[in-house]
Amino acid sequence: MNLNELNQLIRKDRKSVFPQFFTDKPISRETLEILFENANWAPNHARTEPWRWVVYRGEGRQELAKDMERTYRDNVAPEKQDDKKIAKVTDKILNADTIIGIVMHRDEKERIPEWEEVAAVAMAVQNLWLSLDTLGIGGYWASPGYFTRDTKSLSRMGERERCLGLFFLGHHAAPELPRERGDWREKVQWVEN
Ligand SMILES: Cc1cc2nc3c(=O)[nH]c(=O)nc-3n(C[C@H](O)[C@H](O)[C@H](O)COP(=O)(O)O)c2cc1C
Repeated sequence: MNLNELNQLIRKDRKSVFPQFFTDKPISRETLEILFENANWAPNHARTEPWRWVVYRGEGRQELAKDMERTYRDNVAPEKQDDKKIAKVTDKILNADTIIGIVMHRDEKERIPEWEEVAAVAMAVQNLWLSLDTLGIGGYWASPGYFTRDTKSLSRMGERERCLGLFFLGHHAAPELPRERGDWREKVQWVEN
């Protein structure tokens, strides 16, 4: 890969594609397997490989919709609960081809701080995200507050696990939308002498 191709991959191909642009074309199992293989090569401290994925497809999406509602009811104050919001999220889940539960797994000995495990999972998500465009699919990371607290939001999660959100995936017909970034020069300090 040359520098231009790398720039293209990072600045243009790695983008969020939101579910309103998804089409009905199914994502193949092989495509998803490539994503998880690529994700699996993320850097991580002490080889804990803390990323875990729960993949909801077809009828499996009903389970996620139920988990979502249960977690919402358990974590949002009763006076703030909004049935319309639940209906909207359920719709979003049932209309996406595939939704991946992003889970961080803590090792038994807790050898390294939790933030490092969260960082490693985020790097695995980035690998997955960078792979999407080439495979002809799009998606985005959703992290509703009530779903990503220290709570068992996904019934498939184990004891030592925390959900960091959901990755919605689909084939899509998204237009090129304007995307912006602030000037990197304002984020860098050079310490040279
Ligand atoms: C950790 C993380 C959590 C995110 N959570 C949400 C979210 O809950 N809702 C949302 O619309 N976008 C979410 N995003 C996606 C960002 O909004 C998106 O990356 C941002 O708009 C920049 O657009 P781009 O990905 O096309 O560059 C999240 C991204 C990250 C990295």
